[in-house]
Amino acid sequence: MRIIAVLNQKGGVGKTTTVANLGSALARRGQKVCLVDLDPQSNLTMHFGVDPAEVKTSTYDLLTGGATFAQAAVAVEDNLTLLPAVIDLAAAEVELAAEVGREQILRGHLEKENPPYDLMLLDCPPSLGLLTLNALAAAGEVLIPLQPHFLALQGLGRLLETVELVNKRINPTLKVNGVVFCMFESGTKLAGEVVEDVRSFFAQAHGGPTPWSAARVFQTRIRRNIKLAECPSYGSSILKYEPSSNGAKDYLDLAEEFLNPPAVVPAGQVKTAPSASQHGHANSVTMPPVQESAKVGLAEQRSTQPAVSAAEHVHAESVAASSDAPPAEPGQADDDVATLPDAPASEPGPADDSAAAPPDAPATE
Ligand SMILES: Nc1ncnc2c1ncn2[C@@H]1O[C@H](COP(=O)(O)OP(=O)(O)OP(=O)(O)O)[C@@H](O)[C@H]1O
Ligand SMILES: [Mg+2]
Repeated sequence: MRIIAVLNQKGGVGKTTTVANLGSALARRGQKVCLVDLDPQSNLTMHFGVDPAEVKTSTYDLLTGGATFAQAAVAVEDNLTLLPAVIDLAAAEVELAAEVGREQILRGHLEKENPPYDLMLLDCPPSLGLLTLNALAAAGEVLIPLQPHFLALQGLGRLLETVELVNKRINPTLKVNGVVFCMFESGTKLAGEVVEDVRSFFAQAHGGPTPWSAARVFQTRIRRNIKLAECPSYGSSILKYEPSSNGAKDYLDLAEEFLNPPAVVPAGQVKTAPSASQHGHANSVTMPPVQESAKVGLAEQRSTQPAVSAAEHVHAESVAASSDAPPAEPGQADDDVATLPDAPASEPGPADDSAAAPPDAPATE
């Protein structure tokens, strides 16, 4: 089973829409798909017309009460199963605070129960906290929905830093599958520039040592389409709600590209359009050399933002129990930051200030 965490700590970028509709499109392709709602907002749950108030067994019970996948599973379309979330999930981070191995609970369930799906998509909340950490510990792949805006890019460095930390500490097989641009408006200059910068960043990383060395920028872009915003209120995926819409077409194309990806083109063979930075506008995006993967971030952030990184927020005992990482000093709690031990002194540690990010932007719609 492929397990894919759909992740971006920025809010409102299209994570839930992608999990729901990519999942539905993959199910149409004959895959047995399970969607897991790991967001207390329960948007994915409501997207399929499931009322969180009526849910008896949810991902909260899975993480805190020992319920099984089979007990929480709800069939929502052919080949498509949902593990719903309820608002109680927001309390899970606090309830699990003293639990040893709390970032591995979801992974433990998967290993024990081996649920019968081909694909599992994990809808992460817009934060890098314990729920996201559970997703990253359980997943083999990360799919990053991104809006082609300068501000939407600002958190990418921090996101990759977190993936790298998890990869080093608790899940060595974790890889970034790719970036999918959502709510795309072709024809805008900035969108084209951002796409080229992101594409060239990942192309340069190709074949390198990072967890994103085989990541792709999906050629399929999810266009802004009002039908995609409407379908949750009808409790169904876009394929059921409006199968002839651009939204349905885009997610079917994405499913095809996801299942049968074309080869990734290494750096040097990529023809890139002039990048934002080459255009020299004030908010240009600067991706660092990929060899300095632990320092992924944006130049502007380095100079203006305070230093905050996942590695500074330490819960040593739980991760030490699941890895060889040395215990580290407890750090200050942060609601929005994944908690992992500091890197050992011998390794180039990701705990520098380069990946600091500003607060998440509000949802766009
Ligand atoms: N391609 C699109 N065209 C138009 N509207 C979209 C599109 N994709 C998503 N939306 C709408 O944008 C809003 C945010 O999308 P979504 O909920 O998928 O983002 P998210 O990243 O899951 O947000 P959160 O971080 O709050 O969980 C929703 O109202 C959704 O219906
Ligand atoms: Mg969401």
